[in-house]
Amino acid sequence: MEEGKDLGHSVRTNISRVLPVKALQFLLLFLILGLGFSIISMYTFRFFAVQEIAPVGATSILPCFEEAENIESWIRPPSNLLHTMNDTELLWRASFVPQISNYPFKRVPKIAFMFLTKGPLPLAPLWERFLKGNEGLYSIYVHTLPSYFGDYPSSSVFHRRQIPSQMVEWGKMSMCDAERRLLANALLDISNEWFILLSEACIPLYNFSIVYRYISRSRYSFMGSFDDVGPYGRGRYDQRMEPVVTLSQWRKGSQWFEVNRKLAVSMVEDITYYPKFRDFCQPACYVDEHYFPTMLTIQFPQLLANRTLTWTDWSRGGAHPATFGKGDIREEFFRKIFEGQLCLYNNQPSSLCYLFARKFAPNALEPLLEFASTVLGY
Ligand SMILES: *[C@@H]1O[C@H](CO)[C@@H](O)[C@H](O)[C@H]1NC(C)=O
Ligand SMILES: *[C@@H]1O[C@H](CO)[C@@H](O)[C@H](O)[C@H]1NC(C)=O
Ligand SMILES: *[C@@H]1O[C@H](CO)[C@@H](O)[C@H](O)[C@H]1NC(C)=O
Repeated sequence: MEEGKDLGHSVRTNISRVLPVKALQFLLLFLILGLGFSIISMYTFRFFAVQEIAPVGATSILPCFEEAENIESWIRPPSNLLHTMNDTELLWRASFVPQISNYPFKRVPKIAFMFLTKGPLPLAPLWERFLKGNEGLYSIYVHTLPSYFGDYPSSSVFHRRQIPSQMVEWGKMSMCDAERRLLANALLDISNEWFILLSEACIPLYNFSIVYRYISRSRYSFMGSFDDVGPYGRGRYDQRMEPVVTLSQWRKGSQWFEVNRKLAVSMVEDITYYPKFRDFCQPACYVDEHYFPTMLTIQFPQLLANRTLTWTDWSRGGAHPATFGKGDIREEFFRKIFEGQLCLYNNQPSSLCYLFARKFAPNALEPLLEFASTVLGY
């Protein structure tokens, strides 16, 4: 028993002496294996990490390259209209024209509605209604007094559509400068194809589909241009404009025009006629009635309808047309505008001659909104 005990003891001690050695060997093996694994994993991590960092780095840098190389950046309209270009820079930039006539993307041509105003747009709710549901087919530009800021809610079509503006004096070159500024800003959006000049007192006479179809299917641009032999026409011509502009080339027309992109570019890039009109057409020569009609008639007579799309009532006489207020807006008033019109549209007689009308006082808004759905169709 004792021996057994001793033997047992010795066996036990043997085992207990052997176990630590085995355990140590085991531990050592683990240690080596663990070390091996950690070294391998460190290298593999480094290897893959490098592999992974490269694409991560690439994607975080690529958008910068894509901005410059992707066609999107040329198609996308400017996100902010408040650029820092002065007029010289703006007109130069706006005069860029693609030399390949087919666009390499699906271009939906838009109408640019350009509002030339002192500040507020009292008839804005009417325009909002007219434009509603036609997003993607139009853009808005507003030229105001430089000090004015129109705070339109983000839901409004006029929200952030003010362009960098300057002082405008009635009948002077600064008026044409403002019109060129509007055209140039609108030209920066490659999708704008037709450019319409409007005032805060203008209203649309038909719904958007009719307006869009009429303008997009016309072979001509609607610039009023005629040879008025009287004192308010040829009488305003100054011979010092020769030979750039001769008396027989001299034209008169309404300030409120619609032109296509080609003509809009020629209006912003002009350096031939501009100095002549600036120097030799000063009040009582009202340059905004002569500069564009004359210049475009000389350059592109075959592209002009020679009539304006904006109805104006000059029947009361004087230097300013009639302004219509709350009391004037009745059913028979619209009959006066719509009936008895006759003009040429794509060389065919048409009774649809005007798409817009002026001038309307701010208090005309309420009755106009009432008639909008029944008489005007929007
Ligand atoms: C616009 O800036 C350029 C460069 O500073 C200058 O040459 C040009 O005369 C400026 N144009 C206007 C209209 O101020
Ligand atoms: C626009 O007006 C015309 C004629 O009144 C009508 O046929 C057409 O449905 C109207 N379009 C829309 C979108 O309301
Ligand atoms: C507009 O007037 C010009 C010249 O004044 C003429 O050549 C052109 O044919 C006219 N346009 C239309 C549509 O009659």
